[in-house]
Amino acid sequence: MQKILVARPIFPDVIERLKQYFDVDWNNGDALPADELARRLADKDGALTAGDPIGAAELAAAPKLRVVANMAVGYNNFDMAAFNAANVLGTNTPDVLNETTADFGWALMMATARRITESEHFLRAGKWQKWAYDMMLGADVYGSTLGIVGMGRIGQAIARRAKGFNMRVVYHNRSRVAPEIEAELNAEYRTKEALLREADHVVLVLPYTPENHHTIGAAEFALMKPTATLTNIARGGIVDDAALAEALRERRIAAAGLDVFEGEPSVHPALLTVPNVVLTPHIASASEATRRAMANLAADNLIAALGAGPRAGRPPNPINSAVMGKTRS
Ligand code: GLV
Repeated sequence: MQKILVARPIFPDVIERLKQYFDVDWNNGDALPADELARRLADKDGALTAGDPIGAAELAAAPKLRVVANMAVGYNNFDMAAFNAANVLGTNTPDVLNETTADFGWALMMATARRITESEHFLRAGKWQKWAYDMMLGADVYGSTLGIVGMGRIGQAIARRAKGFNMRVVYHNRSRVAPEIEAELNAEYRTKEALLREADHVVLVLPYTPENHHTIGAAEFALMKPTATLTNIARGGIVDDAALAEALRERRIAAAGLDVFEGEPSVHPALLTVPNVVLTPHIASASEATRRAMANLAADNLIAALGAGPRAGRPPNPINSAVMGKTRS
């Protein structure tokens, strides 16, 4: 039987599914440190990860490894150059999380614009003593301008929801989306700078790459309206968290909503000291149904890539399909 590592706790019934095909080594505990991860991968044919870093060192330590299935749509934890050099397939879990993640982007954007968590902390602390005309004044969402950075499938699902809020939608993306999609979403392309100047609510949904490290930092906050909000449901590292904390403290922008952080699960301490930020622990895709769908899709990818199951040899979501069929090197 082929051997696999499941590097993280996941739904036990998905482990049972995998056991029908493989000898499963399951780390049902905290994320494995790099040396332990490499040790556990050494004799494996495949692995299921959720954000665990896999690069040249891990692949070199695992000479039989042929596929790593990430339970996430983002795969910046994979060094794809190393995967390609070693002829190892990477897979991810797109699409099944689009609507859930778009819902959450909206929830976070609205909580940020309307100061929901700040208000709750105020109330719980017993500070609500009287009515005041200027208590917790926020920014309107209905009728405002939404700026979406990253117009992939999740960005498009966010834009679609904006119709019900009568919003103008501007977007920035590496390349323009097809004219019929722009027309359907009523979304207009902008340079990053123009979008930042124009939007009342900026939502980040782009994948992390080394090129867009800190693509939103002090210079970008300076372009934004002082009344604008920033919501990041993409990846830590896209925003310069230290610069963001400073911009929030100095009210250069009104507020931010963050589901992802540089170096998470650590959070930049300065972000914890400013009131005008809503912080959530990377849960945008976390509905019961969607997390189940993601886990099962990661398992489908692993099973198929290792030549088993009904889709043997045809994993649904190959990232680097060019390596398929090549000998492991
Ligand atoms: C979550 O962050 C994902 O990439 O799926």
